[in-house]
Amino acid sequence: MDRRPRRYFIKEQPMLQPDEMPDRPSLFQRIRYSIFPSTLRTEKAREGYRRLFNSLILHFRPRNVPEDTLRWTLTWGLGGMAVVLVFLLLGTGVLLKFVYQPLPEKAYESILHLQNEVLFGRLIRNIHHWSANALILVAFLHLLRVFFTGAFHAPRQFNWVIGSGLFLLVLFSNFTGYLLPWDQLAFWAITICTGMLEYMPGIGLWLQALIQGGPEVGPGTLSNFYAIHTAILPVSLLILMPFHFWRIRKVGGLVIPRPPGQGSGGHGQTVPAIPNLLLREIAVALVLIAFMLVFSMLFNAPLGSKANPGLSPNPTKAPWYFMGIQEMLLHFHPIFALFVIPTLMLVALLALPYIDYQLNTAGVWFASTKGRRMALIAGLAALIGTPLAILADEYLIEVAARLPTIPTWVTNGLVPLAVLLAAVGAFHFFMQRNCAASNTEAVQMVFVLLLVAFLVLTVTGIWFRGEGMKLVWPWDAGT
Ligand code: HEM
Ligand code: HEM
Repeated sequence: MDRRPRRYFIKEQPMLQPDEMPDRPSLFQRIRYSIFPSTLRTEKAREGYRRLFNSLILHFRPRNVPEDTLRWTLTWGLGGMAVVLVFLLLGTGVLLKFVYQPLPEKAYESILHLQNEVLFGRLIRNIHHWSANALILVAFLHLLRVFFTGAFHAPRQFNWVIGSGLFLLVLFSNFTGYLLPWDQLAFWAITICTGMLEYMPGIGLWLQALIQGGPEVGPGTLSNFYAIHTAILPVSLLILMPFHFWRIRKVGGLVIPRPPGQGSGGHGQTVPAIPNLLLREIAVALVLIAFMLVFSMLFNAPLGSKANPGLSPNPTKAPWYFMGIQEMLLHFHPIFALFVIPTLMLVALLALPYIDYQLNTAGVWFASTKGRRMALIAGLAALIGTPLAILADEYLIEVAARLPTIPTWVTNGLVPLAVLLAAVGAFHFFMQRNCAASNTEAVQMVFVLLLVAFLVLTVTGIWFRGEGMKLVWPWDAGT
């Protein structure tokens, strides 16, 4: 190992000896030497500069990393991809600000001007739009990989909480950005979503007026969303992200992958991060950027007609990432769909790493062989059970409507929630009895059950709801 003291400031190093320099450098060589004077330096001097560059990188990357954590099948590069997408969004977002005007009478026109008259304007908007949507997917998949490799167990619990904060920031960034084009899609989606706040007990109406900057979606909303979108949320992301990475450093890197049944065996062999980690990161970043670029060249970001507050489209849908909640609204009383269930989901997400687990399965995909089987059964149960429950509810709503004496918060709120919790409880009890699982495996099973159910609700809301939010078959002609 090299034990020489590390030098951060390099003394002036000798240039190439005169006899090694070309006598009469050509114009090309003179230009080249003027841009890259280092090519005139000796190999030894160049080595010094290489060290300086490396030590610069080592300010934010570790010196050595456990070799096992470099395996592609541990992270799938997802955390790194999320970072790249955030920077793509920051870069393109700043460019969009040069043209975009956050006023109701100008916003839509400024987008048209950007798309039709500004050089590469459409491409930049497309990259911003698709990167924002890709970021939700990538951050969500990253959350799943962290969960299913048990990377939330001690000592990484708090980093899970920071990650959840990042996820919320990503969702809010998407949500606030959604309004900015000021087309029909944007206006009515945000109207639906801010309208939902009314049902929040106590502070709902106050919060709604605060966010909307007035009694309804209008100029106040646009300037609020613009300021939050282009200043508050990006700054929050830029503060929270380094905190997330620093916590990874503090625990000595990522979880070490291990097969089921094998105990955790320290950190294994370590290798220098440069070039081993750095090259992998650069490769993932370049492939992702190339993909986003080509995708944005092929597919345009949607833009409807200009927002018309007097004409609501039918159906009026929330942005796709909130469709699961809007679908719940069709089955539960609004207080439950918009407040009780989302709050329970958020609390469960944050509490997840703090459960007193019987097994610390950090590094084992799906906790164990049994855990994998239980997760699969739970996934299938939710995949079949949720559509059946949706169909049953379409019919039960009709029945409930004929029972006027019982308040709707009971028929549509308490009853379905109790049925849902009872179904989850019964499933949990049945599996526990038959599999004698640890609570680590049981929690994973319930997580999968609820996750798949929520995904089915989201897919139903996006593709299987038509006019009047009636169930439709998307492949039917005319729907
Ligand atoms: C903008 C969103 C996010 C970014 C940019 C981000 C970035 C990263 C990166 C680069 C890593 C290391 C490499 C990797 O695991 O792929 C990482 C690890 C981690 N992330 Fe995130 N993350 C984000 C969201 C989340 C979310 C939503 C969660 C969970 C709720 C989360 C929890 C964690 C944890 C616990 C680790 C450590 C994993 C381990 O030790 O193996 N992150 N994150
Ligand atoms: C995580 C970060 C970000 C996310 C997820 C995000 C998301 C979005 C989304 C979904 C839109 C609507 C795009 C469309 O369909 O037209 C949008 C628009 C916009 N964003 Fe961002 N954005 C982010 C960061 C930024 C930043 C840092 C800025 C500027 C500093 C910015 C400036 C803008 C502007 C000016 C628009 C309006 C132009 C348009 O709609 O095409 N964004 N953003």
